[in-house]
Amino acid sequence: MKIPPVKGTRDFYPPDMAVRNGIIDGWKRASIRNGFEEYDGPIFEHLQMYQIKSGDEIVEQLFSLEDRGGRALAIRPEITPTLARMVNQRINSLSRPIKWFSVPRLCRAERPQKGRLREFFQWNIDIIGVDDVLADAEVIFTTVDYLREAGLTAGDIRVKMSSRRLLAAVLRSIGIAEAELDSLYVLLDKKGRLPAETFKELLAERVSDVGTASRIEAFMEASSVSGVRQAIGAAWNDEVAEAINELSQVERLLKEEMGVGEYCQFDPCIVRGLAYYTGVVFEVHDIVGELRAICGGGRYDNLLGDFGGGAIPATGMGMGDCVLEILLAEKGLLDRQISGGGLDYFIVFVPGLKFDGPGDVASTSRGQAVRLTARLRGLGRSADFSYKAAGVGKQLKQASERNARECIIIGDELRRGKLVVKDMSTGEQRLVGMEEFLSQLKP
Ligand code: HAM
Repeated sequence: MKIPPVKGTRDFYPPDMAVRNGIIDGWKRASIRNGFEEYDGPIFEHLQMYQIKSGDEIVEQLFSLEDRGGRALAIRPEITPTLARMVNQRINSLSRPIKWFSVPRLCRAERPQKGRLREFFQWNIDIIGVDDVLADAEVIFTTVDYLREAGLTAGDIRVKMSSRRLLAAVLRSIGIAEAELDSLYVLLDKKGRLPAETFKELLAERVSDVGTASRIEAFMEASSVSGVRQAIGAAWNDEVAEAINELSQVERLLKEEMGVGEYCQFDPCIVRGLAYYTGVVFEVHDIVGELRAICGGGRYDNLLGDFGGGAIPATGMGMGDCVLEILLAEKGLLDRQISGGGLDYFIVFVPGLKFDGPGDVASTSRGQAVRLTARLRGLGRSADFSYKAAGVGKQLKQASERNARECIIIGDELRRGKLVVKDMSTGEQRLVGMEEFLSQLKP
């Protein structure tokens, strides 16, 4: 009986693994370049962790389980709650600011679709303990810094920014009750993914006053931070002005100080699905708008407090590997993510030759290949050979399939202590003394 893989999961054969590693290596390089340190946590947590503040959407998508002691657990759908728990646990001994990154494997029982699977990898960067928009700008800059290194330009992607604080201020000023804010965020977050008419209908169900609903729509259509004033008219107040001022500062930092303004734009439709965001929020989208979000993040100043810690400000971002990989493939940028790979040496032996030496293995050309491979590996080089005594042509083919940079051919020359070394990219061959060759390879 053939058992298929579980829906929404992926098998990583070696070429897929090379892509995955290439992407993750890029995430790690960008994190370190921008001053983040790596952390990780367990792959499952108490179920309750995600019920506190992640929001209904995440809770509905949990893979939950009960352990033998009857405890309700869940596989992590995100790492932000784990981060909050870990930071709270050692808050007195951690030096601030905390700038941490992680690349967890996550599971969400979503309906699998293009760019959304049930198991994926997610790059996370978070800055904890900084109550300054500079930290929000740093998170956005680091995100762009990675995407730029991956080869994506301002012609390919856009960072769309808004603010939960601004949205809350606008909604309050037009008369939405505090208790209704969270559920309204969930609907507004879906605006870009719903047909315009469906969105209108759903909004009307939730906000019965036609004038109020149309003011929400007008706000969501504002095309610049300065355009918000005109869009919301009489709803303008000090709270709105403060939130606008904060967002303008982030825009200014990204443009004037960090030089990535061309990647960024204000978009009041960015709300974010998770419940814990409190300030600046952002997502990166492909410019055509065909794919789901490449990443998303924002400020979450209350989460550590909600997890029983002090009121510690925090901001961060999560980027999955699925949409990113689709976009990189579409732009022809996937190959350049793959670093290194392949073998340093593939040892080819002329079958059937006998050499003087101790023991049976040492006396055949294959035995010599095994010996040389072991010595190369001992010197820290990646090396392999054919298990079968196939013809030299077949072995050379195998070497190029394994992406070997050089082939070392063991033939009659070895009787004089010499090897043939073939450069696989140019095809050039040279004859070298074996001991001299090995002595030049420093461990
Ligand atoms: P999120 O919006 O739920 O935020 O996910 C962030 C990113 O993870 C998405 O934009 C997408 O790239 C990827 N992602 C989410 N779900 C899936 C899925 N089912 N399949 C593939 N990729 C997916 C968070 O998770 C926040 N914890 C991010 C954050 C960190 N905020 C502050 N710090």
